[in-house]
Amino acid sequence: MQNITTTLKKLFYLWRRSQVPVKQPIKISRIDNLIIFLVCILISIISSYKLLLISPLKIADIFSWFLTFTEILISSGVLILVSKKENPTISSRQIFLIITLLLAVQVTKLALASTISPLSMIIPPALIISQGMGSITALTWASIASFIWPDPEIVINNNLFFILLVCASIVSLLGGRIRSRAQLLQLSIFVPIGSFLSQWILIGKDKISLINKQDFALANGDIFSDSLLLAIVMLFTILFIPIFESIFGLLTKARLLELADKEKPLIRRLSLEAPGTFEHTLLICGLAEEATRMIGGDIDLIKTGALYHDVGKLHAPNWFIENQDGSRNPHDELDDPIKSAEVLQAHVDEGLKFARKNRLPKLIANFIPEHQGTLKMGYFFQKAKEKNLDINEYYFRYKGPIPQSKETAILMLADGCEAALRAMNINASDKEALKTISNIIHSRKKDGQLDDSNLSKGEIFLIKRAFLNVWKRIRHRRIQYPISKNNTFS
Ligand SMILES: [Fe+2]
Ligand SMILES: [Fe+2]
Repeated sequence: MQNITTTLKKLFYLWRRSQVPVKQPIKISRIDNLIIFLVCILISIISSYKLLLISPLKIADIFSWFLTFTEILISSGVLILVSKKENPTISSRQIFLIITLLLAVQVTKLALASTISPLSMIIPPALIISQGMGSITALTWASIASFIWPDPEIVINNNLFFILLVCASIVSLLGGRIRSRAQLLQLSIFVPIGSFLSQWILIGKDKISLINKQDFALANGDIFSDSLLLAIVMLFTILFIPIFESIFGLLTKARLLELADKEKPLIRRLSLEAPGTFEHTLLICGLAEEATRMIGGDIDLIKTGALYHDVGKLHAPNWFIENQDGSRNPHDELDDPIKSAEVLQAHVDEGLKFARKNRLPKLIANFIPEHQGTLKMGYFFQKAKEKNLDINEYYFRYKGPIPQSKETAILMLADGCEAALRAMNINASDKEALKTISNIIHSRKKDGQLDDSNLSKGEIFLIKRAFLNVWKRIRHRRIQYPISKNNTFS
């Protein structure tokens, strides 16, 4: 009997999931895939063709070339897989950037290995990748670029290779965390200084043959000029990062912080034309930030995403309760639950239009539909039922998609809890507040809204605690301080 109940529950769950839009994976078109594959082939050819230039050519040489070719092709594939794993929403343009940078480095190695230090060739692109696509992708990229050398005659000094790997790792790890252009500038000064000192200690200041090739007419090997060149290339890279951001749709920490500036025209408009929504947004930022910090998510991403999540309400601010002064509710005058539901859905559709117009990055725009997911507009659905309208529940659900990341899921939960916490009695106990939060989160979970978010049970527990902490702060702010007898304040 229990088995039948479980099976029925599963069937009911599957049926319910089939009624809402399902997760849309990022699609990369066939042409893009083909171009990416061709570039990978090109990288493999450029990186291995010199093995075929040996005369006389033996079968063992061809076999060795084939192995190297396959190894490089597989490495490029692994790089793409790692970047997709670290950035589930990565676009074909961004994959194209990663492999084109690898191609450019391989060509530079062929043309300029004798004149330019490998540090200047590999570290600056690693900085771009770490800023735009994260530390793990940058580390993978830097490892592949450091290990694959197209010219078999080039044997890098072991100490230099070690310094290269350490510097590239530092840049990859820090680059993914750096939050301002000023810190980037510091990195572009300290890494070359560090590389200069470590080369001086490990290789020696007089060594000419950093690259052990006898007939390099232009062999540089001057560690001071190498480090200076590295600093110059890194500074130029930082200058060009904003261009990479707009061409390849990269979302760096610095760009996120710029977008989170409350003086941005769209946010200014929200504060002036929809002050209630703006207040709601600020409170949600606090809730979402605390919860994201607790679970170790991307705080800058959620803060910026929260700021823009309801910009669509600008299309008709007074149709939303937080902007009504209590005198007049247009929904009552309209008296049509279906039309009211359309107005609510419009705040998502219009929000996406605002996002396109203001060139918001995709990761930020995703917060607009995903914070509502496929939630039911319960109030208007109830109204329709009261009016005996024979209407499908589907028309009273947001179009989705449901949250596809932990950050958008947290925003949905914060959005749900915000009004309830704000309306809660100032004397309510922590237990009551936690119960309210738990009920709201449980209803979202039961409705299948968190299915694609990857939030674990432990993380949901931490999110509840984080919301409770914010509620305690709100309550503290609302407590009236007693005025002292002599009316002095301190
Ligand atoms: Fe909303
Ligand atoms: Fe909202």
